[in-house]
Amino acid sequence: MNNLNSKDILGTRDLSIEEINLIFDTAKKFKEVLSRPIKKVPSLRHLTVANIFFENSTRTKLSFELAQKRLSADVINFSSSVSSVKKGESLLDTINNILVMKVDMIVMRHPNPGAPHFVANNIDIPVINAGDGTNEHPTQALLDSFSIIEKLGSIKNKKIAIIGDISHSRVAISNIHLLKKLGAQIMLCGPKTLMPKYIKDMGVSVRNNVREALEWCDVANILRIQLERQNEKYFPSIREYSLYYGINKELLDSIKKDVIIMHPGPINRGVEISSDVADSNKSIILDQVENGVAVRMAIMYLLSFHRSS
Ligand code: NCD
Repeated sequence: MNNLNSKDILGTRDLSIEEINLIFDTAKKFKEVLSRPIKKVPSLRHLTVANIFFENSTRTKLSFELAQKRLSADVINFSSSVSSVKKGESLLDTINNILVMKVDMIVMRHPNPGAPHFVANNIDIPVINAGDGTNEHPTQALLDSFSIIEKLGSIKNKKIAIIGDISHSRVAISNIHLLKKLGAQIMLCGPKTLMPKYIKDMGVSVRNNVREALEWCDVANILRIQLERQNEKYFPSIREYSLYYGINKELLDSIKKDVIIMHPGPINRGVEISSDVADSNKSIILDQVENGVAVRMAIMYLLSFHRSS
């Protein structure tokens, strides 16, 4: 296989195992490019990519933009907070205006689940979902799995715990779909109020005790409390959350085995993770960020072949 099936990457739910392996193999090659003195290839020099962000982002936006520049694409950036969306323009009108400027690919983040799917269904060029509300964040999950494979060799039968605010996390959902396809065992851990009711149907186990999850797992992927998506109270206070679910050095040192620590960022130091854990040699948080550029280069490179189909 040397191409992706769809013109878009909207979720990990839709990816086949062959497509996932193709993305990882391609990302490995681009990671090698990124270690050269000249970290640039001409692969997308004929293309213009638009990054359309209707929600805040640091890592994902920088990572996509850097990946585009490393591939020699022309890049335009759109941020809804400083755009005509504030003047009442519809999503499709915004997109159509960008399209007539001869854009070849769109990377899109939106607070509403399904927004990138709606856009993808209405235009011919590739759309990459950079996070749609609580639904999916496929490139984050792909870079997470790529980082685990780099560290552990493979994902099959590895025990991965995802700890934190599962209910509001698109990272958790995309990770579950992807890790299951790659043969991992998955445990979710967090307060009952932050656990979706249907979640066991996804073939995962659920625990509410963080020590139990850490004792079980090879890898702990720790998530932020997504306060911006919470309209009501799900736990008494941040201090109490931190007390019961925060991962600190004392807790980690008391576990009788090595656990790899991951986090998609942004980290809330002292809430879900302490500084001495985030900065420890068990943490691969910065490797995740580094790998994000190569994984996104791979995705955009592979999708570029769908441009005119
Ligand atoms: C995540 C996101 O935006 O969904 N961050 C990211 O993309 N690196 C997770 C989060 O915001 O907590």
